[in-house]
Amino acid sequence: MRTRVPEERTRQARRLVPIIPMLALLSAPEALAQATKQGAGLFTQRCATCHSVGEGDRVGPDLHGVLERRDEAWVTRFIKSPSAVIDAGDPVANALLTRFNGVRMPDQALTDEERASLFAYFRDCTAKGPGGCKPSPAEKMGTDATAEDVARGRKLFEGSEPLTHGGAACIGCHDVRGLGVAGGGTLGPNLTFAFARMGEKGMRPALAKLDGPMMGALYAQAPLTEEEQYALKAYLADVSRDGSRPRADRDFVYLGVVGLLAALGFIGIAFTAPSQRGLS
Ligand code: HEC
Ligand code: HEC
Repeated sequence: MRTRVPEERTRQARRLVPIIPMLALLSAPEALAQATKQGAGLFTQRCATCHSVGEGDRVGPDLHGVLERRDEAWVTRFIKSPSAVIDAGDPVANALLTRFNGVRMPDQALTDEERASLFAYFRDCTAKGPGGCKPSPAEKMGTDATAEDVARGRKLFEGSEPLTHGGAACIGCHDVRGLGVAGGGTLGPNLTFAFARMGEKGMRPALAKLDGPMMGALYAQAPLTEEEQYALKAYLADVSRDGSRPRADRDFVYLGVVGLLAALGFIGIAFTAPSQRGLS
């Protein structure tokens, strides 16, 4: 009796054996797609400030085809610790260091899985050809924006540059610190700290959709282009940054006038009160 149990197990196991590799085969493309997607996200967060994949050199080299021009083991070692490879006198790393003006790529802690996902992303970009993986503009981080991106976002917000699909300017319903004397509309919430509150993760889908009871009706037929989403995100990220640029001069004047009137009003009350008391 006792011997039958393991016997049955082996028989069952034998029947299962061919199924396991089949399952692995079935899930492999899915797992790869998943890793590629994770790698793309990681690249945006941790590498895209200095690198592109197919859009040319930035602070660091264009990484398009990096796994073809270099040994994977070398790239792995380099990403694990650029400074260790440079300091060990590696000729390739030191040539790169010279070419990129002595800017050292910072050491970043990445797990093996994260590195594998980055490699999956690099291979996927290489497979896409010379242009590589141009990130869709809306995918770019609002906090990586240039001053021009921010300026364009402000124009779109204020309506001095019309939205491509004819949507209403945001200023009609939203105020933001620094928008000038009249300020923006008050139908919607003040968006000065919206980016700080919602973060990149919340703001990206919010601008892609612009839904909600009031905006949904307006923008369903007039969505923002990806470039517009990015510029507006850049602008909102900029205004929400604590201790950011001083308010526009007009606002100082405005606050000054209001403050002066308030102060005069106060003095007026302070002076009239006793005299009125004296008269009565
Ligand atoms: C602060 C800027 C910066 C960041 C962030 C950065 N790098 Fe780099 N990277 C560089 C520079 C600069 C070089 C050229 C070597 C040097 O000077 O250190 C480089 C070189 C490389 C190389 C070698 C390229 C080649 O042509 O052989 C790889 C691979 C690389 N980086 C991958 C990454 C990955 C992956 C990330 C994100 C996890 C990343 N880098 C983040 C600046 C950066
Ligand atoms: C017709 C008025 C109106 C216009 C125009 C408008 N919004 Fe809104 N928006 C609202 C209202 C109202 C809300 C609050 C949620 C709701 O009721 O839909 C809101 C919410 C938001 C939120 C979420 C804020 C939060 O605190 O959760 C963001 C972000 C936003 N709007 C961005 C924009 C941008 C960018 C534009 C211009 C492209 C714009 N809105 C144009 C009325 C408007």
